[in-house]
Amino acid sequence: MSLVLDPAAQDLLFREARTANTFTDEPVTEEQVRAIYDLVKYGPTAFNQTPLRVTLVRSPEARERLVRHMAEGNRAKTAGAPLVAILSADNEFHEELPTLFPAFPAAKDAFFSERPVREGSAALNAALQAAYFIVGVRAAGLAAGPMTGFDPEGLRKEFLDDDHTPLMVVNIGKPGPDASYPRSPRLAYEDVITTV
Ligand SMILES: Cc1cc2nc3c(=O)[nH]c(=O)nc-3n(C[C@H](O)[C@H](O)[C@H](O)COP(=O)(O)O)c2cc1C
Repeated sequence: MSLVLDPAAQDLLFREARTANTFTDEPVTEEQVRAIYDLVKYGPTAFNQTPLRVTLVRSPEARERLVRHMAEGNRAKTAGAPLVAILSADNEFHEELPTLFPAFPAAKDAFFSERPVREGSAALNAALQAAYFIVGVRAAGLAAGPMTGFDPEGLRKEFLDDDHTPLMVVNIGKPGPDASYPRSPRLAYEDVITTV
């Protein structure tokens, strides 16, 4: 009773949403990906830096190049998903800050002139955005299969550049047969939440 979100939406986004390991052949359209982005772009990040970048891997040739960098156990599902997205952090996000955070345009130089600081901030905030993205995929009635089992340096060289750090590869589509493992337990409130 404490949640104001419609119970069906709660189930769609969380309770009944599962990580998918198999997918049907139903395509994931550009319109669906646009709708997902147009929703999740509002998720908060520090200084509104929004460092997440998304590379959609659509062509069979690009998919083959991607699969080569995936861990053995992730190859078949990455090859078979209707759509795969490479999520990366833009370590040069500060270039956009004067536009993205007009309340304090000087933040670019005051806080982010050093690359190691930017890399730490980009990693945290792009990971937040990756989570928003997964929830957005679910909001579109699709399932996500996020993976960090890949060779990050190989993937970076293949698809990105030195200014981008790969964070996650996400398979996207309608779940296929036996798509999920049995639901694993979650920690209890008492194990996670402390009040001081
Ligand atoms: C950041 C991240 C990395 C993951 N990496 C892999 C992976 O490399 N291979 C894999 O099979 N599953 C991977 N998973 C899937 C998780 O094991 C799965 O989401 C988790 O057990 C919850 O499953 P559920 O959504 O079905 O409850 C990853 C999930 C996340 C969020």
